Amino acid sequence: MIWGLRDFFKGTMMEKKNITNEKLMDFAKDAAKKAYAPYSGFAVGAALLTLSGKIYTGCNVENASYGASVCAERIAVFKAVSEGERIFRKIAIYTSGGSGSPCGICRQVLSEFSSDMTLLYHDSQGIIKEVPLSKMIPDAFSM
Ligand code: THU
Repeated sequence: MIWGLRDFFKGTMMEKKNITNEKLMDFAKDAAKKAYAPYSGFAVGAALLTLSGKIYTGCNVENASYGASVCAERIAVFKAVSEGERIFRKIAIYTSGGSGSPCGICRQVLSEFSSDMTLLYHDSQGIIKEVPLSKMIPDAFSM
């Protein structure tokens, strides 16, 4: 596959209709390079694929007031929603170490928009797992 000029501007929104899980994870890995994580030293990147085939990336952005920090997944979701996208197919999550499994708040935020989406993250063997969000947050809160 030939990658165009827009791939050069990674971190902005891109359009990829038929992207592989591996390639979506590459976008997440790239996004993790932008992480602002001076307090935890734990870089996270996310790449969110929307129904329309667009990809929104995010990285964790920490703050000296720790509670003001925001996870990579939520940054990607908020970027997408603020651009008018609300239906998500997949999100790839890349972490610099440890578990790639997303936190509970991010699961809840994803489920607000697309309870039938799937999540990609590395298992302890470094293999990409694809797990339905409904399995990761069963009986999520809704109103
Ligand atoms: N973090 C994420 O970006 N996503 C998660 O799902 C879990 C945790 C970030 C938040 C914080 O900047 C760092 O990882 C350590 O918790």
